[in-house]
Amino acid sequence: MQLPQLKTAFLQTFGQPADAIYFAPGRVNLIGEHTDYNGGFVFPCALSFGTYLLLAPNKDDVFRFRSLNVPERIDVPLHKLTDVLPNHCWANYPLGCIAQSVRRGWAPTTGYDLLFSGDVPQGAGLSSSAAIEVVTAFAFSELSHTNLSSTEIALIGQASEHEFAGVNCGIMDQFASAHGKKDHAIFLNCDTMEFQLVPIALRGIKIVIANTHSPHKLDSGAYNARVSECQTALSQLRKVRPDLKNLAELTPSDFEACSVAITDAVAFRRARHVVGEVDRTRRAVEALQAGDITLFGKLMNQSHVSLRDDYEVTGPELDAMAEAAWQVNGVIGSRMTGGGFGGCTVSLVQEEAIPAFIDSVGKTYTARTGLKADFYIAEIGDGVHRL
Ligand code: GLA
Repeated sequence: MQLPQLKTAFLQTFGQPADAIYFAPGRVNLIGEHTDYNGGFVFPCALSFGTYLLLAPNKDDVFRFRSLNVPERIDVPLHKLTDVLPNHCWANYPLGCIAQSVRRGWAPTTGYDLLFSGDVPQGAGLSSSAAIEVVTAFAFSELSHTNLSSTEIALIGQASEHEFAGVNCGIMDQFASAHGKKDHAIFLNCDTMEFQLVPIALRGIKIVIANTHSPHKLDSGAYNARVSECQTALSQLRKVRPDLKNLAELTPSDFEACSVAITDAVAFRRARHVVGEVDRTRRAVEALQAGDITLFGKLMNQSHVSLRDDYEVTGPELDAMAEAAWQVNGVIGSRMTGGGFGGCTVSLVQEEAIPAFIDSVGKTYTARTGLKADFYIAEIGDGVHRL
């Protein structure tokens, strides 16, 4: 939706004009999956699509949450801004961020009218929820005059996801939405939060996102189960490596040397994925910087296989999509992106092969799953900002 239409929608919804408009993007992760909450590397980029937030103070003591994507209207009185809403309500994502500002000492003296509108496909693993969190955290950092850093904004979004949505996610999605930069990917060390913006100038190659339309179910408990399986592996490894802070500290050969300490077979496979994926991510970024896009693509494919076999977060739809992509000439690499269990794949495809890619992958995917895929050519955009 265009800005004039959003402003009109705000006026129609609340009977007053919007005071300010903010935008935060969704993200696509190129490589480094399920490494963030293990202190590892990730390599996401912000997308040009995301969530808009229009707002204005009102004369009542109530925060009114409205969305052009969800019919449910939520009103929260000032004295309830730190209470979680029941029934997995969508407004928990922004409310959780406002709650963080209140806990840091902000005492709003008026209510606010808030209108959200997103163009990130929901449930596609492209961080529609992180975009809502980051846009809210950013807006209320301005309104409460705390002017937080981009990293603090990301941490507020993550805290909201933990407390108000019940997902023990890592920092990648919120970090990408807060720190994104046009035409760059973010090489982030999730342990130290140090990062490097790496230019993505892929001559003749595009990033293509394929939506399985099999919704990823991040709140289903499977994600939190992976987090705790990694913790099991870490605590078993500490019997022989008491100094170990994160799984991501281990190189593949360190892991080989100490992995007998992991007695739980599932935890062993989860840890093997994490250690391998951290190594692949580091090598992939080096390959990209050295201009070796072929190696980058191979590492993407290996990432998918490891997420399928060791981490078990792909499922039949994501596997069908990635396997179909691997068969197409002009595909440099293809893998699932995001949390998994449905959602999207990300592929690097030579520009002239894109029409054949969409046709062939689309047909094979439908034949294997009965579902219709959607394809988007990703444009890498900027992180959260005021318009
Ligand atoms: C989700 C989480 C992220 C990250 C990815 C997997 O998107 O929100 O923190 O763990 O899954 O890499």
